Amino acid sequence: MNEIISLLQNHRSIRKFTNETVSSEQLDAILTAAQAASTSSNMQAYSVIRVTDNGLKNQIAELAGNQAYVSECPLFLVWCADLHRYAQAVHRHGDTPVTGNAENFIVATVDAALAAQNAAIAAESLGLGVVYIGGLRNKPAEVSQLLGLPQLVYPVFGMCIGTPDQEPLQRPRLPREAVYHENRYTDNEGAVDVYDESIRDYMKVRSGGKVDTTWSKDMAAKAQRPREHMKPFLSSQGFEVE
Ligand SMILES: Cc1cc2nc3c(=O)[nH]c(=O)nc-3n(C[C@H](O)[C@H](O)[C@H](O)COP(=O)(O)O)c2cc1C
Repeated sequence: MNEIISLLQNHRSIRKFTNETVSSEQLDAILTAAQAASTSSNMQAYSVIRVTDNGLKNQIAELAGNQAYVSECPLFLVWCADLHRYAQAVHRHGDTPVTGNAENFIVATVDAALAAQNAAIAAESLGLGVVYIGGLRNKPAEVSQLLGLPQLVYPVFGMCIGTPDQEPLQRPRLPREAVYHENRYTDNEGAVDVYDESIRDYMKVRSGGKVDTTWSKDMAAKAQRPREHMKPFLSSQGFEVE
């Protein structure tokens, strides 16, 4: 074991922050770590927008489903998939960028996620806490408009960063055999039974006995909220995903 592995294995999302600000040195370290992430063909097909304006933060918090910690966190970042800069680079050479295909949509989305996760780990290593905010995909067009996103840029998720003001229980993960395979995919539905019970126990403790749920139940509930608007929204931003 080493410190980095301990840090990674200790992760939990933080949704309550102290008023302590994130210093410019800390922000610089976080962004430099983000930029150091691996990136498909060195495309670096992402951008990150720091939201400092409180009015804007409040609007995004509401659009993301009234997630108060978006307003309250000292540092709020929006991670965007970005093919705009790549398209500009290709145009310089009189060529036509490939923007309307699934492959480059994946490239840009993965690049944004890898940079963001590097940022998250860097922040945690500085004693800060983070939570991703996928909720802003509830209203992606409105968020994009507020942030002035051009065509070929879309917000993948936000991220709250700050000094933790809570010590949440660590959320259990699926049993290893559910996610890890050797040589060939093996179906293992039994692992879901095991995990359902571990999430039931975790949620009981976390909610003081009020919530009785399981992982598969949560997944079934999530299936009722499919964010069908994402496909037309992505098309309107210039990303074709067919
Ligand atoms: C892409 C992404 C989007 C997420 N969106 C939200 C969100 O909108 N609000 C929230 O409270 N947590 C959000 N989360 C945090 C997850 O709920 C959390 O990571 C997961 O339940 C596991 O818990 P843990 O991070 O504490 O281990 C998001 C996580 C990811 C990776």
